[in-house]
Amino acid sequence: MAEISRRSLFGGALAGGVVLGMGGAAPVAMAAAAAAPPPRQTGQTSMIDVPFAAHSVVRVGLIGLGNRGGGMSGEWARVPGCVVTAVCDIRRDRAQNVADQLVAAGRPRPAVHGGTDVSYQALLDQADIDLVYIATPWEFHYVQARDAMLAGKHVAVELPIATSLTELWSLVDTSERTRKHLMLAENCCYGADELAMLKMSRAGVFGEVTNGHGGYLHDLRALLFNDGYYTDDWRRLWHTRSKASFYHMHGLAPVSAAMNINRGDRYTTVSATSTAARGLADYRQRFVPQGHRSWNETYINGDLVTCHIGTANGHNIRTEHDVSTPRPYSRINSVAGTRGLFEGYSGSASGSRVYFEPAHTDHGWRDFGTYGEQYKHWLVAKLAGSGGGHGGMDFIMAWRTVQLMRSGLVPDIDVYDSAAWCAPIPLSVDSIALSGAAVEVPDFTRGDWGTARPGLDSAVSDMPTGGGTLTPLASLAAAFDNVGITSETNVKPGDFDGTGNSFSAEKLAAAGLTAGATFTALGASIKWPTGIGKINNVMGRGQVIKQTGKGSKLVVVGSGIGTAPSGAVVVKYTDGTTVSGTITFPNWTAPAAGGATVVAASVGRNRQNGYGDTGYSYKIFAHSVTLDPAKTVDTVTLPVNSNLHFFGMGVAP
Ligand SMILES: NC(=O)c1ccc[n+]([C@@H]2O[C@H](COP(=O)([O-])OP(=O)(O)OC[C@H]3O[C@@H](n4cnc5c(N)ncnc54)[C@H](O)[C@@H]3O)[C@@H](O)[C@H]2O)c1
Repeated sequence: MAEISRRSLFGGALAGGVVLGMGGAAPVAMAAAAAAPPPRQTGQTSMIDVPFAAHSVVRVGLIGLGNRGGGMSGEWARVPGCVVTAVCDIRRDRAQNVADQLVAAGRPRPAVHGGTDVSYQALLDQADIDLVYIATPWEFHYVQARDAMLAGKHVAVELPIATSLTELWSLVDTSERTRKHLMLAENCCYGADELAMLKMSRAGVFGEVTNGHGGYLHDLRALLFNDGYYTDDWRRLWHTRSKASFYHMHGLAPVSAAMNINRGDRYTTVSATSTAARGLADYRQRFVPQGHRSWNETYINGDLVTCHIGTANGHNIRTEHDVSTPRPYSRINSVAGTRGLFEGYSGSASGSRVYFEPAHTDHGWRDFGTYGEQYKHWLVAKLAGSGGGHGGMDFIMAWRTVQLMRSGLVPDIDVYDSAAWCAPIPLSVDSIALSGAAVEVPDFTRGDWGTARPGLDSAVSDMPTGGGTLTPLASLAAAFDNVGITSETNVKPGDFDGTGNSFSAEKLAAAGLTAGATFTALGASIKWPTGIGKINNVMGRGQVIKQTGKGSKLVVVGSGIGTAPSGAVVVKYTDGTTVSGTITFPNWTAPAAGGATVVAASVGRNRQNGYGDTGYSYKIFAHSVTLDPAKTVDTVTLPVNSNLHFFGMGVAP
């Protein structure tokens, strides 16, 4: 993907962090000027406290269906009032598998996109998506998240949202300009202990919280060297690119929430250190056969990367990142203040421990168990027993995100939180390169960090009742979810048949179907789609589509893959009565059959390697459903058969 910058691939090295305190007043003054937030464009305003518009149903598109995306697909799909309407993976079979799993679980079939690195664009073009969830390798997050907002979608991005300061600012600006929310999909913010720690902190149990400690200590060596676990070795390869705190957010985010970052305080500086890079090479030496491709790699990221983050209120947070050495898992999760402290991962009975005045005066730790109950967050109480990945927090995150959108509430995690939590990635690169000198953290809120706001410490609220009702899509074009026609000069986006082939726009025009032009099929006047190389037809997935008119028949125009796919089209009239008819579109290479007639036969087709297969003709067919001419059509429900592709629809007199 051309747009993925060298900078992001290299961990945001020298991404604009500014050195502080190196040589006295002059550098600091320069730093302040250089680190001033870039000005907002005219009309661009903050997203702080901006609620979602209320959605009756939240329609989610998923990009990246590997370990994480595949798992999260089920979590999103089981939230009441949430429908997964599209799935995408560069490996199309993974998207197809997830679609099949959702159908097997009784969910509607989502549109399937995949095959190329631009396939996600077709998903973003779908009108029936409100929220995009991105779980691709890190190097794709920025471009995909930005494009999602530009396409008018809210976006939840797996860790990290981006890896350079330029990209982080770009995401903040894109959110503010498009008025779409971006959230880091930080599931650990929804952990039971993390949320109880937050509540205790906000309740003042620890006094003024002056310091916190979090991170990501996870022995990933076996997975990093496992052929096939991380697709194309993407995660191991990051360790060849830069010395950086790649993935501290699971620990930093909950601690920052408990310390009111962007809600009364803000990060001001990052000083980072890195140990030598030893762990991965040592593991490879002992466990990876000579000749394995990893033997060509040189690991440069330190085994332990530590960031010291200073805050405007004089507080301090320490983060640690180590995925390269043997150790039990920990996100550390600790905060301490003038009256007491909390420590996660302590090895105590509940896994966490506390000590605070005036209750405790004997210098002895207390198990967190009873306090965890006392300060239980309402989300944890409400969704206890719901199951889900990572001890339930994956489902809580999905449920809460959908609830916020359905209810029209302010997000718990906004673009400013997300950018701040990820900023130590590029800033650690800068600071490590400067032997640990403090570098300045930009204020992504542009001055709005000082006001207390609830964030994750939210008021109790409920999911809107019922599963939500999908309103009919405004037109067939609003339901488009497949790129079936491409230009011979740009074949790559095409995927009519699920293997990257598509109709040639030029040959269809020669056969009488020109983009945007009106044609007649079975007596109905129908407009041919305009989007060449964009989504321009819809696969039958049971979508309900608004259609007006009175006449003798509803005419549908399209084509099929597989062998003569067919299904029932249901027409609802404005008086509430319905009529249905079975329609068939033969395979696009086949002659007319099953009651379908040929509208156009185009010579050859576009393949991923260009126009070809000229010995065949690829056809567009028409079929119809008989109507009661006395009644007015209100909606059309497409068949549930994604081998049926619809390009146009109209009512014949
Ligand atoms: N929050 C958590 O608890 C958690 C847990 C695991 C992973 N993650 C995050 O999830 C993301 C994915 O990690 P993973 O372990 O699932 O990796 P993975 O390699 O298993 O999955 C990545 C998927 O993205 C696909 N992909 C790659 N490039 C693409 C593109 N341009 N368009 C569409 N699809 C593309 C790959 O084919 C693959 O299926 C990472 O950001 C990771 O940090 C988060």
